[in-house]
Amino acid sequence: MTTTDPPPLIPTLGGNWYVDDRVFAAEQERIFERMWFCAVRSGDLADPGRFRRVRVGRESVLIVRGRDGELRAFLNICRHRGAMLCTEDEGEVRRTLRCPYHAWTYGLDGKLVAAPNLGALRTASGEAIDRVAYGLVPVALREWLGYAWVCLAAEPPSFEGDVVSAVTARLGDPTVIGTYGIEGLAVGHRVVYSVAANWKLIVENFMECYHCATIHPELTDVLPEFAHGLAAQMFVGHGAEFGTDIAGFTIDGAAGFDPLPGIRAEQDRRYYAITIRPQVFVNLVPDHVIIHRMYPLAVDRTVVECDWLYTEDVVDREQDVSRSAELFHRVNQQDFAACERTQPTMSSRAYRDGGVLVPAEHHIAEFHEWVSHRLEEVG
Ligand code: FES
Ligand code: FE
Repeated sequence: MTTTDPPPLIPTLGGNWYVDDRVFAAEQERIFERMWFCAVRSGDLADPGRFRRVRVGRESVLIVRGRDGELRAFLNICRHRGAMLCTEDEGEVRRTLRCPYHAWTYGLDGKLVAAPNLGALRTASGEAIDRVAYGLVPVALREWLGYAWVCLAAEPPSFEGDVVSAVTARLGDPTVIGTYGIEGLAVGHRVVYSVAANWKLIVENFMECYHCATIHPELTDVLPEFAHGLAAQMFVGHGAEFGTDIAGFTIDGAAGFDPLPGIRAEQDRRYYAITIRPQVFVNLVPDHVIIHRMYPLAVDRTVVECDWLYTEDVVDREQDVSRSAELFHRVNQQDFAACERTQPTMSSRAYRDGGVLVPAEHHIAEFHEWVSHRLEEVG
């Protein structure tokens, strides 16, 4: 091979990585239950008593707004005999969370506040029940970009090191993400997709644009460099530029809304894509932000919740976001259809040893190495 030869093909993971329940169980334990997991939009739980139940790895996690205004996360399990406390995915309670089995009742701060005959109950050593020790099991929670991120690890990894640095590495300058003011934006549109595909297929698809020219006609109309030019496809983090005749990031390229107030001139008319491992995609365009959160439910099933975020002014005045939201909704449908087309064949003998990554996809190999490395770590 001479220095002018193109880089060679690189092997992918073998098909069993996408269909083997044991691989998925190891990923739940060593990835989703150990890393920071973007769980809910904080603004969805604006009022005290509002809660949302999410699946993180193998656990059910309850996120609830306290009467003091704080968001907290707990394992969704009653400390008495283990009944699931909340069986609804979201809702609102007044002051307490009451187990429907024997009525142990917890404050929104997780403390045990009531139970039948609580005053008469004693521990094995004869002491009264400690209401904190018998309270709900807390889960670490951080708020960033207007989302509540939770971590099941007893000692969570550095949030800055794992989450914030993924964004900084992609955008280069740590101050850029703040210019979009994401925490102050409002949800103008949301779609929840139930995708019959392994979560890694969805990550890999998001990481490359080799497929863009084939399956994303509307997106490549707006971002022509996604249709040609390998370098542009590999460095989408540097910001793909809108086509010269494109006024906005909309389904037909028509004008969108005013640019978000904080963004700089060099960020205008550009699209940035960021992957935050293990389950978040951030898409930045001048007038809105699109955030995907994945909830891997099974080896072949992933729920993706996608938020389109706009200024409060756009959302409060009920401006029409449909042309703007339709573009990425179309992209999502196209991408998820491709992932669903790939999932069933992962168990074929033809894919036992995997496929190949072309040069424009070579950065996916680093994702594969990362997953392999996480699963090799001693549990
Ligand atoms: Fe919840 Fe008994 S299991 S009160
Ligand atoms: Fe795509």
